[in-house]
Amino acid sequence: MAEIQNVGVVGCGLMGHGIAQVAAQAGYEVVVREVDQATLDKGLGKIDKQLARAVERGKAEQADADGVRARIRGTLDYADLSPCDLVIEAITEDLELKRAMWREVDGIAKDDAYFATNTSSLPVIAQAAATSRPERFLGLHFFNPAQVMKLVEVIRCVTTSDEAFGVGVEFTQTIGKIGVQTRDSAGFIVNRLLVPYLLDGMRAYEEGVGTITEIDEAMKAGAGHPMGPLTLSDFVGLDTLGSICDVLFDEFREKRFARPPILRKMLAAGWYGRKSGIGFYDYSGEAPAENPGLVR
Ligand code: CAA
Repeated sequence: MAEIQNVGVVGCGLMGHGIAQVAAQAGYEVVVREVDQATLDKGLGKIDKQLARAVERGKAEQADADGVRARIRGTLDYADLSPCDLVIEAITEDLELKRAMWREVDGIAKDDAYFATNTSSLPVIAQAAATSRPERFLGLHFFNPAQVMKLVEVIRCVTTSDEAFGVGVEFTQTIGKIGVQTRDSAGFIVNRLLVPYLLDGMRAYEEGVGTITEIDEAMKAGAGHPMGPLTLSDFVGLDTLGSICDVLFDEFREKRFARPPILRKMLAAGWYGRKSGIGFYDYSGEAPAENPGLVR
């Protein structure tokens, strides 16, 4: 099996920064690429914060945290991905953007490098086909926060070779995650089941079954979930959720995957959840409070 030493991560946002951190924690040399310095600094800043927090809580030694950080190099230049053995994509959930990005990376990466997408719902084959190496392409789907969530869905598309799939499985193990194999079907396992549940949480709110807080509290206390569906929707990002449900709806044409009207209105208002400071909750105060615009 090919040995992976250098890992490239494209995108240092919500998912990319976490993927870069877990890879560096496992000893890989990581290059993470962003589109502009401000976005890169923001993502690297999140890694610094997580590492500092681990040291503060006695979960890591300062020297180890420094070692992890030293293994992560930020860049704006695709050319810096040239030494990478594995490149993981974690950019916006937009197929055309992803395909354009892969065409760029394909021209720079080593011939024997493997490519993986962290897409949450788009067909892996649609990205693999944009490269000159569809047999070396697979899906590695991480969950937010990538530093904490144990699962990685390892997705084999129709062109993925046994070798490339094996590299994905082995990489997942070396970073301490649980790899579950899934087919290249929209939403894979987790989002196929989770997204209709989150959308149902929104519909329950729209229909007045409970308030935002009541729905969340009920699912936490009654079903043992760490976050209620509306908190989790804000956490995932309502824009990302909107893109995922569009892909699922296109694929299956079932109402349970369609955007509920409240989601459409919230996205039109620019309320993307925690990342924009407001979603089902307003995050501007000490503790999250129900979004007053929704309560009216
Ligand atoms: N980044 C890194 N680490 C984080 C973190 C973050 N954003 N948030 C929390 N952590 C770490 C903390 O540092 C802490 O670590 P230690 O125990 O080592 O100190 C640990 O997680 C627990 O954190 P807290 O005590 O602060 O908070 P918590 O117990 O409430 O847990 C949570 C926070 C892990 C996020 C928990 O609420 C949870 O599991 N929520 C559900 C998350 C979930 O379902 N994610 C999947 C979303 S779906 C998805 O991602 C797929 C997709 O394609 C859309």
